[in-house]
This record gives sequence, C-alpha cells and structure tokens, in this order.
Amino acid sequence: MSKVHPTLRVYDKQANYYDTMNSPMERFFSKGRKVFSLLRGNILELGVGTGLNLSYYHPSTNVTALDWSSQMVNQARAKVRRLRLHHVKKIVVGDIMELDKHFKPHTYDFVTSTCVFCSVPDPIKGLHEIAKILKPSGFLVQIEHGLSNFRFINFFMKFFDPFMVKWRGFHITRNTLKNLKIAGFETTHQWSLDPTGIIRVIISKLDS
Ligand SMILES: C[S@@+](CC[C@H](N)C(=O)[O-])C[C@H]1O[C@@H](n2cnc3c(N)ncnc32)[C@H](O)[C@@H]1O
Repeated sequence: MSKVHPTLRVYDKQANYYDTMNSPMERFFSKGRKVFSLLRGNILELGVGTGLNLSYYHPSTNVTALDWSSQMVNQARAKVRRLRLHHVKKIVVGDIMELDKHFKPHTYDFVTSTCVFCSVPDPIKGLHEIAKILKPSGFLVQIEHGLSNFRFINFFMKFFDPFMVKWRGFHITRNTLKNLKIAGFETTHQWSLDPTGIIRVIISKLDS
C-alpha cells in the first residue's frame, strides 16, 4: 500500500469545513479570483480544492480541474452540480507533480492555481509538469501567497512556517516568483492583493 503524504491527509480532513475556515481571507482572494473571468478556451485548474474559483470562469470556457484530495474533489463536484456550472467538464483526482499521467502535452490555453504552490511538496517539479501540458502560447495564472515585502514580517513567517505546514498543510514562506524563474517561466504581470505583498496575482508564460 502506498503511503499517503501528510499534506494530503491534512487537506482530506479540512474538506468539509474548508469554505467556512477560509471565509475571513476571501476579502483578499475574491478580488484576485475575478481575473479568472477574463480567460477563454481550454483551462486546467490545479489544486481546485472545494471549487471556490469555478463560478468565476466564463460560461464559454472548457474547464478541467484536478486535486489530489478525493474529499476536496467531492466538495468541488457537489458545487458544480449545485451551481449548474456547465463549463466545468471534469474534475479528476491526481497529483500536480504527475500531470503527464492525466493530460496530453500542449493541451491547455491557461493553467490556473489559487493558494496551491504553497503546499505542493516539490513546487519546481509541479511547474515543470505544467510546462509539459501548457500550449506554447499559453499562460499560467496564479494567486499565491508567500514572503512579504517586509523583512520583520518575514522573520515571523519563517518562525511560524513549520507550525502552518502541520496545522493547515501549507508553507507561508514560499517564493513563487523565484520558483517560476527556476522552472523556466517568465512572469509577465504580477500585482499584490494586500498591503504587505504576501498575496499576489502572478501571470507567467513559458520562457522562449
Ligand atoms: C489551500 S487549498 C486551495 C484550494 C483552492 N484552490 C482555493 O482557492 O480555495 C490547496 C489545495 O491544493 C491541493 N494540493 C496541494 N498539493 C497538491 C498536489 N501535489 N497535487 C494536487 N493537489 C494538491 C490541496 O489538496 C488543496 O485542495
């Protein structure tokens, strides 16, 4: 029997109450989620969770979503049925670090993630997998949190990081902009959703 990753176990446990627990942060995230309404074509959302982004996509899009937590996927599928989100074609259980098991190369116009690369165990591997399935003209659109613009805040974040991983399943010290560069992406646009620069919308394409 293969061992379940501890982070996956945390997310499976949170699935039933995730939306309630997350609601205080939605004042920041909901501002960013609106960016997804601008996307068209074939979209793959990674780490879909309970599906908080799914109603933002335009009805003309074809959205596929993935999460490694079957409990989260159950919540997202229920949301799709309840809200009649016909543009969401499929939600699969799978690991971001193994996207080539599920998807054909160069398939998607957009790959999206919200608050996901803070918990992917090997974020660079995950980004390399995205590079395989994104069309060469495609864009990766993310809302991710990480280190702030202020050194004293980062000092506390580094201290609390191990507790956050155990309790909530995510790191609070990831440097997504740096990881994108390492994985061969060029960030074309990015802006902050909060005054400290912790939460960012980041738009990237494959480095040519
Ligand atoms: C903090 S939640 C965010 C959920 C959702 N994107 C949102 O905006 O509310 C992170 C999600 O990423 C998923 N996740 C983390 N690592 C993953 C991986 N390696 N493969 C697939 N899903 C992953 C978790 O199961 C969880 O549902």
